[in-house]
Amino acid sequence: MEKEELQAIASQLKHPTGEKGIEMANMMNETNINMTRHSVQNLNIKAGNSILELGHGNAGHVEFLLEQAENLKYYGLEMSQLMFQEARQINRNFVSQKQALFSLYDGNTIPFEEDSFDKIFTVNTIYFWQEPEKLLLEIYRVLRPNGNFCLTFAEEDFMKKLPFTQFEFELYNTEKAQQLIKKTPFKIVYTETQTEKVKSKTGELVDRAFTTLVLEK
Ligand SMILES: C[S@@+](CC[C@H](N)C(=O)[O-])C[C@H]1O[C@@H](n2cnc3c(N)ncnc32)[C@H](O)[C@@H]1O
Repeated sequence: MEKEELQAIASQLKHPTGEKGIEMANMMNETNINMTRHSVQNLNIKAGNSILELGHGNAGHVEFLLEQAENLKYYGLEMSQLMFQEARQINRNFVSQKQALFSLYDGNTIPFEEDSFDKIFTVNTIYFWQEPEKLLLEIYRVLRPNGNFCLTFAEEDFMKKLPFTQFEFELYNTEKAQQLIKKTPFKIVYTETQTEKVKSKTGELVDRAFTTLVLEK
């Protein structure tokens, strides 16, 4: 594949736009659904919880999340206008019932007051954070005391084999993520790496290792 094509894939994954962005978002939601469901399940969601997700893509998984307990409220934050629109469209019933609220932000400052959420999670976005330590402190700020933040990403050893990750991506392994978290007041309460089979761009099944870190305020 040409350098330009690889660059285009990387920038769509970082910031989906246009027709290609919708296709890319459908593909991401499908390929990453196991990582997303695993993150949701690790949050130990309870009835009445307010839950924030950073970088939800098309948010095709919100129905699954809202089934985890009664009376939940989901807030989604994105940097991509296209993903904000797609997510609102796909979840229009939950939006009109005010069970799901979507907003755009600049990727650095979370537009909510301190202690706003019981649970926060993000899947496959850490590679694109502009200022990782600052964003973690923002997540800490808007999380309620004893609340949990679940951070999920694919391991560097797997990601670096994908040719487009040389552009736009900052790759992490478990240790690098733990070192980053140690710069913040978060406590790491659970770490797990598991391997799953995913379809590669050329159609064959490959092993992908991904890590879930559960943090507590
Ligand atoms: C690779 S996609 C992952 C989407 C979905 N979470 C998944 O795993 O399928 C990354 C998404 O995160 C968004 N994004 C990138 N940087 C972000 C940031 N700093 N905060 C929140 N979202 C971000 C992008 O717009 C894109 O929709």
